[in-house]
Amino acid sequence: MGRKFLVALGSAVLALSLAACSGEGAGSGGDTSGEKPGDLTIGVSMPTQTSERWIADGNAVKQKLEAKGYKVDLQYAGDDIPTQSQQVDQMITQGADVLVVAAIDGTALSGQLQAAADAKIPVIAYDRLIRGSKNVDFYVSFDNYKVGVAQATALLVGLGLQNKDGSQGTAKGPFNVELFAGSLDDNNTQYFFGGAMDTLKPFIDGGTLKVKSRQTTIEQVAILRWQQETAQKRMEDLLTSSYNDGARVDGVLSPYDGISRGIITALQNAGYGAAGKKIPVVTGQDAEIASIKLINDGVQGSTVFKDTRLLADQAVNAAEAFLQDKQPQANDTQTYNNGVKVVPSYLLPIATVYKDDIKATLIDSGYWTAEEVAAGQAKK
Ligand code: GAL
Repeated sequence: MGRKFLVALGSAVLALSLAACSGEGAGSGGDTSGEKPGDLTIGVSMPTQTSERWIADGNAVKQKLEAKGYKVDLQYAGDDIPTQSQQVDQMITQGADVLVVAAIDGTALSGQLQAAADAKIPVIAYDRLIRGSKNVDFYVSFDNYKVGVAQATALLVGLGLQNKDGSQGTAKGPFNVELFAGSLDDNNTQYFFGGAMDTLKPFIDGGTLKVKSRQTTIEQVAILRWQQETAQKRMEDLLTSSYNDGARVDGVLSPYDGISRGIITALQNAGYGAAGKKIPVVTGQDAEIASIKLINDGVQGSTVFKDTRLLADQAVNAAEAFLQDKQPQANDTQTYNNGVKVVPSYLLPIATVYKDDIKATLIDSGYWTAEEVAAGQAKK
């Protein structure tokens, strides 16, 4: 069946069922405080299974909700916007009582969210804020600006310009660096890049860091859908266009481990990391197991760890509060304006992971085992 047809069908079913239950009863939305967990369903919409973090996020939210007796409808959208719209439509028609959504495109779900609001279904934005809609009830994430600051700081530390305690390092530069950002349709991208550039700008302005390609705007450096292959291609193009005069790349600001691995592959294919040609300092995010092995092996410089187990806990807390007709507890009611309103948020802390931190931060906390780190692969 064609996708267009499915979307049309989904909307027709949606209209019918909304008319039938007019926002109350039918197990969907409204006051659920008197109902048993087994009668309540939480729709969980995740963007993609190509990145292991979203698989871990989806599994964690599902398991934690099921452990409390709730029913869970978990769907992945294959990084395809119409698929995600259709899946969310379907969750609404099938009587979800709360929605937890990590959007592919932060602006693409307004229609679905209006339908959710009409059916009195609360919506929790998961890690990525949904923009341009008043119908986002809560946001669970990390301090995304600080993620960018941490990535830029890790680049400075890796180059020796700064010490881990924030004091000035012994290196003088100048160093050649290149910059990457995430997908422009993801609201987080501007926070990561903003935090990073606020930190790097004085070094760029002062000439200690040189961006030889001169590509420094977010539009120039963004990678659509956070794709590893797109990042590899862009790094290859940069090497050809800006480093064919014998100059070397010393560091790369990367916003996410998948992008970092694309960058590293391009660099390795160009001879970096072998025969005395030092691999540049490459940053990252998400503590993906393939990248943790690279960090352990001295290939990738660092990553930013965001404990998805704690994020899942917050999503579950928020969902449960809504199901009991209460407001979830926010710890930030100022930062995340989605263009229509400031969405009350619960933001979790982050941690930079260099090689020395792998044991204490990731292994001792049970996030990865020593065997998984050695293999570069998740067991389950
Ligand atoms: C962002 C998220 C990052 C990373 C990226 C690519 O929205 O905050 O942690 O996972 O997507 O998946």
